[in-house]
Amino acid sequence: MKILHIDSSSKIHNKSNSRALGRYFLQQLERYGVEFEIDYLDVTEDVQPHVSAEFVQATYTPEAERTERMREVLAPSDAMCQRVMDADVLVCAMPMYNWTIPSTFKTFIDAITRTNVTYDLLPDGTTVGKLGDKKVLFITTRGADLRQGSPYSHMDAMTPVLKAAFAFIGVEAPEFVDAQPLQFTAAEAREAALVRAHNDLDQLASQWATNLQKTACSQSEMAV
Ligand SMILES: Cc1cc2nc3c(=O)[nH]c(=O)nc-3n(C[C@H](O)[C@H](O)[C@H](O)COP(=O)(O)O)c2cc1C
Repeated sequence: MKILHIDSSSKIHNKSNSRALGRYFLQQLERYGVEFEIDYLDVTEDVQPHVSAEFVQATYTPEAERTERMREVLAPSDAMCQRVMDADVLVCAMPMYNWTIPSTFKTFIDAITRTNVTYDLLPDGTTVGKLGDKKVLFITTRGADLRQGSPYSHMDAMTPVLKAAFAFIGVEAPEFVDAQPLQFTAAEAREAALVRAHNDLDQLASQWATNLQKTACSQSEMAV
């Protein structure tokens, strides 16, 4: 099994909660006996190009009609789509920045949302996402508490954008573990938020391990 593990925090490695929680989840998967290889992507270092006029023209030109320059413009996006398609699982760790996803993760979404690559455009104008076979986990960290009932709950512009963008490419039910509040609160509340996030990640790793083992068993039965 291949996991594409993505970090998006602009904080350096040992100071970042989202980075630490992502690592913790992978350690828990290992502890529950899941075997995997990692393809690691740090979108703050490997920043994807913004959508440009050239990109728009190239992506909507049928493949057979693309010029050499168009192919060159699409190359980073092609490579990123391939990495996502090669993975069985995506573990995406990210902080909330200004109520939504980090802009570096947005450029990643722009890179992997491609007609006839990660989604098909049908003759009747409808679309079908092609990444329905992927398991996706978003581990988000927030300074404020945006859980239901909190005065900030209506300001979560992060969950809807992740759900919409990934549903469009076929990922209908991604998992979310949201660690909050990690900044704009007292130390005890921050610690309690981290304990909740670790417990949720632990539970999810155990569930995934069980499900993945069941899938492996039914695949080997089908092969007999
Ligand atoms: C530039 C910037 C913008 C932020 N904006 C928000 C925000 O809109 N809402 C929020 O709850 N926290 C916000 N935070 C706080 C971070 O989301 C929070 O500290 C998170 O735990 C950081 O994760 P990290 O340790 O992985 O970097 C912001 C932090 C930074 C640096």
